[in-house]
Amino acid sequence: MSFRRAALMLAGAATVIATTFPQTVEVDVVFPRNETYAPSAVFPIVFAIQNPALAPSLDPGFQFELWQNIAHNNSLDLPNIDLGSTNFTNATGSVYVYTYALNINTTSNGADASTQYNLAWSFSAGNCSASSTDSTEASSFGGGFVFNNVIFTIAKEGGVAPSINTTDSSSCKDLSYLAFNLTGTLTVPDPAKQWDGHSSCAVFSDSTPNPASGNPCAATANASVAASILAGAKSSACAAATPAISCPAKSAAGTIVPMTGRMAGAWALLALAMAL
Ligand SMILES: *[C@@H]1O[C@H](CO)[C@@H](O)[C@H](O)[C@H]1NC(C)=O
Ligand SMILES: *[C@@H]1O[C@H](CO)[C@@H](O)[C@H](O)[C@H]1NC(C)=O
Ligand SMILES: *[C@@H]1O[C@H](CO)[C@@H](O)[C@H](O)[C@H]1NC(C)=O
Ligand SMILES: *[C@@H]1O[C@H](CO)[C@@H](O)[C@H](O)[C@H]1NC(C)=O
Ligand SMILES: *[C@@H]1O[C@H](CO)[C@@H](O)[C@H](O)[C@H]1NC(C)=O
Ligand SMILES: *[C@@H]1O[C@H](CO)[C@@H](O)[C@H](O)[C@H]1NC(C)=O
Ligand SMILES: *[C@@H]1O[C@H](CO)[C@@H](O)[C@H](O)[C@H]1NC(C)=O
Ligand SMILES: *[C@@H]1O[C@H](CO)[C@@H](O)[C@H](O)[C@H]1NC(C)=O
Ligand SMILES: *[C@@H]1O[C@H](CO)[C@@H](O)[C@H](O)[C@H]1NC(C)=O
Repeated sequence: MSFRRAALMLAGAATVIATTFPQTVEVDVVFPRNETYAPSAVFPIVFAIQNPALAPSLDPGFQFELWQNIAHNNSLDLPNIDLGSTNFTNATGSVYVYTYALNINTTSNGADASTQYNLAWSFSAGNCSASSTDSTEASSFGGGFVFNNVIFTIAKEGGVAPSINTTDSSSCKDLSYLAFNLTGTLTVPDPAKQWDGHSSCAVFSDSTPNPASGNPCAATANASVAASILAGAKSSACAAATPAISCPAKSAAGTIVPMTGRMAGAWALLALAMAL
């Protein structure tokens, strides 16, 4: 089976970038939640990044593994999320990025009654500092990965269909998240060679670099965001040479289902990067 890496992202409408500090940048797992789901052909994995305008200053990146069984003896391949090609420019609200698992089922090829899964996710976030307090230019860079988990269950009976959007405020309180407290940003001296091309870098609070109290309820997706993510995941899965799920027939000319396109309202599926 070919190994695919895809980055799939949605970004909000253009607006003004906030400049007063401190500012919190937060990453939330919008889906899955700590719930029980039915087996699914397309199972989305959705993150929200709140305060996206400042996200590039963290030189952000994701790593995740979806473990089947809490025993962690089998992990599922997921398309990667490439934040390096996510457009955070002037985004407001949350930027949603996503990947997906295909044909998620209980173990023993769907014969077992229920199976727990663990989405082990980590977010790499960097910071910088200047050599003197009156300098606006960064002279040293730091940072690393921060880890979190979401445990959910797939059950043959009694599981709900995966739903990215929820109006249940009690479930959003349990969302997995990581928050970063920025007291400012500094100029990156040579973005062509440093910080993956980002022109500014984050300065973290010394006292509370990772605030324990986040605001995951502000990141929940609405129905139109949810629908465009599901449509995007499905069309990406169907673009494979041999799709693992049942897909609409490809056109007579053999063209591949378009993977980017305008979505309803102010939202657009902005970019998708895929390396085969
Ligand atoms: C983004 O915001 C900046 C600063 O407010 C503004 O100068 C620029 O025109 C905006 N760009 C777009 C594409 O809206
Ligand atoms: C993983 O562990 C479970 C529970 O111990 C076992 O049933 C299953 O066969 C194991 N799977 C693999 C791929 O080793
Ligand atoms: C990023 O988004 C902004 C505003 O939506 C747009 O003007 C700009 O061209 C985009 N940049 C890239 C590299 O796609
Ligand atoms: C889950 O496994 C069962 C039993 O093999 C099968 O009937 C069902 O189609 C599978 N569901 C999905 C979504 O793969
Ligand atoms: C920020 O980065 C510097 C290196 O510039 C490092 O020494 C420091 O520990 C980092 N601070 C935090 C809070 O991560
Ligand atoms: C929720 O997470 C806990 C551990 O954090 C786990 O024991 C429990 O089974 C999970 N619930 C569901 C429905 O997966
Ligand atoms: C962020 O850091 C500043 C200064 O270190 C502190 O005053 C503020 O309370 C912190 N914010 C959060 C949400 O922890
Ligand atoms: C859904 O949420 C997005 C992002 O917050 C927003 O731009 C859009 O207007 C919302 N759509 C509806 C129908 O509420
Ligand atoms: C979630 O969004 C779907 C469309 O993707 C919509 O059909 C459904 O009614 C929404 N559910 C809730 C609870 O908002």
